[in-house]
Amino acid sequence: MYICICKAVTESQICEAIRSGACTRKAITDCLKVGTACGKCNREIRDLLRNAQSTSGDTRRPRAGREMPYGRYAGGGAEVGL
Ligand code: FES
Repeated sequence: MYICICKAVTESQICEAIRSGACTRKAITDCLKVGTACGKCNREIRDLLRNAQSTSGDTRRPRAGREMPYGRYAGGGAEVGL
């Protein structure tokens, strides 16, 4: 199911990004460009993130400047789920 219509990004792509270490909405946006057009998908992205964190028990918050594992994708690597 598409979560971000503007950027044609699916729920499974977002979930894959979360599993790969994207732990903030911004990290997901940086990688997949979701939420950068109309912004209507941002609430669903946050909900997916909260659900993933609550089911995994992961309540960590990233610190500013901390490199996240998912950053490797954002730096020009292969795109997730494509
Ligand atoms: S639906 Fe995601 S930016 Fe428009």
